[in-house]
Amino acid sequence: MLSLTHSLFTTIFLVLVILLHPSNAQLSSTFYSSTCPNVSSIVRNVIQQALQSDSRIVASLTRLHFHDCFVNGCDGSLLLDQGGNITLSEKNANPNNNSARGFDVVDNIKTSLENSCPGVVSCADILALAAEASVSLAGGPSWNVLLGRRDGLIANQSGANTAIPAPTESLANISAKFAAVGLNTTDLVALSGAHTFGRGQCRFFNQRLFNFSNTGSPDPTLNTTYLATLQQSCPQNGSGTTLNNLDPSSPDTFDNNYFKNLLINQGLLQSDQELFSTNGSATIAIVNNFANNQTAFFEAFAQSMINMGNISPLTGSQGEIRTDCKKVNGS
Ligand code: HEM
Repeated sequence: MLSLTHSLFTTIFLVLVILLHPSNAQLSSTFYSSTCPNVSSIVRNVIQQALQSDSRIVASLTRLHFHDCFVNGCDGSLLLDQGGNITLSEKNANPNNNSARGFDVVDNIKTSLENSCPGVVSCADILALAAEASVSLAGGPSWNVLLGRRDGLIANQSGANTAIPAPTESLANISAKFAAVGLNTTDLVALSGAHTFGRGQCRFFNQRLFNFSNTGSPDPTLNTTYLATLQQSCPQNGSGTTLNNLDPSSPDTFDNNYFKNLLINQGLLQSDQELFSTNGSATIAIVNNFANNQTAFFEAFAQSMINMGNISPLTGSQGEIRTDCKKVNGS
């Protein structure tokens, strides 16, 4: 009898451990349905407000979710300012420094949410919601954002320097960085389609314009008319910070023109054009498909954003809900 009771308790205990263990916790689209039912419209309204004076903000916000998720998972670590225990912020890492933007709008979203549902919505979830609202406001797809992420307590600057792909990297390297966070080739091509809006500074692609890989000539995979335009915008010894549209054909609209551009050698970044111009690559067929079928692109993009948003979230009692996205609570 004693051993039967004992084994019953053991079983109940094990079931509870399995049910409550955070690593089994799943994100859910209804996570805030009772605690902050208007979370999506609050996020969307603040972005709509920001759009009135900054047509680029939707692109910038979408990129923040990517740069957050690739480093220590989607945990809002990108948003932490340097200072106190945060000795090396992700904001100051190479891919973000003088490049990542939109942090002020994230803070406005947080303030608005703290007014309606104090202490409830994580900064990591704000980035996921802001990305979806941004894409849809720019004419792209909508999807049900999975929620329930919590905010991390640390930043990982060296992680940001290594995990986020650089625009001059080979397709093989970039694919490996996506694979390292569980994203496949379709995710890579679909998510690169986010370069259908927003801007790129000359310093991220000017190595293609005059003396590519020490050949003395420009990148041969650059359309010559487009090359001339870019050489004008980014002259040798000119400013590296001049902005150029990532998608010159429809700079602020979320559509499949990015892929159409690749077919005519008008990708802005080397990493963009490589998706179509790397001989024998599995990415070529996917680019062709998305260029010919915007619906296929939109469906794949939405699914891949969900996949990216699932990278190693903190859930349950891990991390915290930050009150100020820039700071760990109590610091
Ligand atoms: C595949 C590897 C990728 C590389 C090498 C890359 C690189 C870059 C670079 C160099 C810029 C220009 C930044 C600047 O000039 O300050 C940029 C901009 C941007 N990236 Fe990516 N990116 C990649 C993937 C992604 C993904 C997966 C997303 C989102 C899902 C994304 C969204 C954006 C957006 C929206 C912009 C424009 C931001 C703005 O205008 O503020 N990128 N990217």
